[in-house]
Amino acid sequence: MEGKQRGANLEAALVATLKHRETQSTLRKLTTYPPDSIDFSSNDFISLAQSSELRAAFLQELNAESTLFPLGSGGSRLLDGNSIYAENLERDIATFHGASAGLLCNSGFDANVGLFSCIPQPGDVVIYDEYIHASVHDGMRASRVKHVVPFTHNSVSAFREVLQKCIDTEEGFIKGTRNVFIAVEAIYSMDGDVAPLEALVNAVEEMLPEGNGHIIVDEAHSTGVLGPKGRGLVNELGLEKRVSVRLHTFGKAMACNGGMCSKCLKSLMAKLFTAIILCTPMMRQYLVNYARPLIYTTFLSFPALAAIKASYSMLMDGRSLELQRKLFRLISHFYTLLVKMQEEAKPYQLLCVPDSCPPSPIFSVLSSEPRSLAAFCQQAGYIVRPIVPPTVPAGAERIRVCLHAGNTLQEVETLVGRIREWVKITQRAKL
Ligand SMILES: Cc1ncc(COP(=O)(O)O)c(C=O)c1O
Repeated sequence: MEGKQRGANLEAALVATLKHRETQSTLRKLTTYPPDSIDFSSNDFISLAQSSELRAAFLQELNAESTLFPLGSGGSRLLDGNSIYAENLERDIATFHGASAGLLCNSGFDANVGLFSCIPQPGDVVIYDEYIHASVHDGMRASRVKHVVPFTHNSVSAFREVLQKCIDTEEGFIKGTRNVFIAVEAIYSMDGDVAPLEALVNAVEEMLPEGNGHIIVDEAHSTGVLGPKGRGLVNELGLEKRVSVRLHTFGKAMACNGGMCSKCLKSLMAKLFTAIILCTPMMRQYLVNYARPLIYTTFLSFPALAAIKASYSMLMDGRSLELQRKLFRLISHFYTLLVKMQEEAKPYQLLCVPDSCPPSPIFSVLSSEPRSLAAFCQQAGYIVRPIVPPTVPAGAERIRVCLHAGNTLQEVETLVGRIREWVKITQRAKL
């Protein structure tokens, strides 16, 4: 009876908190869409999740190696989960990206938490872009570093100011006895904009000449999309030797997630959000010793590793190049259509398209009524998402449209037509 009472109190507290979210219109819900919907939302940027070629390569890899490797993982990588297959794979991926070492991780989230919780040492500082991913925040929270400082999104001058303040307050930074870590993303998931990486690298090298500035680039959204053969932003800019750590996640463009594999193998693999940290061999060894999310978890199973290998082989042997090119043709076409629509429909009170063509497949179309616009598109079968506070600041509400190599020109054109229709109907209703 007493137990029941306690349970009831907890239930009431949870209900009250969720109710509060509901009244604030911030309640999160899991959603599904009909299978024939047109995807303008997922992170399957080069449409590998739909690729029959990748599916065939994956199944072939599984069959080719199936007598050598068990389907289950066997344990933590430090115990029975490791294999020559995993070590060769991470070495091949590191070489492809021009890095000296790589460490596979069960997910990008685990990788960031492991990295930021253990690499910065006591007395070091972490400076991060204000839009950095939640996993970096969780890692910083668990770290021994006392000072973590944000800088204004993508602003090199704001970054310089923050770094200068750190240098002024502690001489260890200029002497090189203390480290500064800088956390940025290559492409930001809500705005689709690209980090001014070269300028940041120049600033770090100029202001910390002792080499104690370490830039960590999260390439979650740029893997498979930017750079030669989809290697990412750091490779595109030739900065491999000037950034300390890169994170490539495989759950987005690389399609190494439940989407592809559930179709191939039904229930065999429950979760495959995988990633690799690219760093020096010494840092890799440190992570193996101290990164708790890597140590205290069951390592990737053979099918998960085979999925990564099959997917990367599409990049390595150039089979994804045409997908990459097609994606950028669609980006340009979609942007041209949006601008034309904005000029003709004059929807200024209702929505605003980006000032210039986004350098990535992620479009943020600002709108004061994102829920209405997204629902109107969804009713016609186009999956686009409304993005509202607290995910973005008040006043920056939007719909997020994500293009994929597998979208057709016609789909892109009809989506713009649908947006135009919503503008007309909404404008009329306001008269
Ligand atoms: C920038 C960024 N970093 C890390 C992650 C985490 O990656 P994963 O989905 O592999 O856990 C995400 C995924 O949402 C992300 O967007």
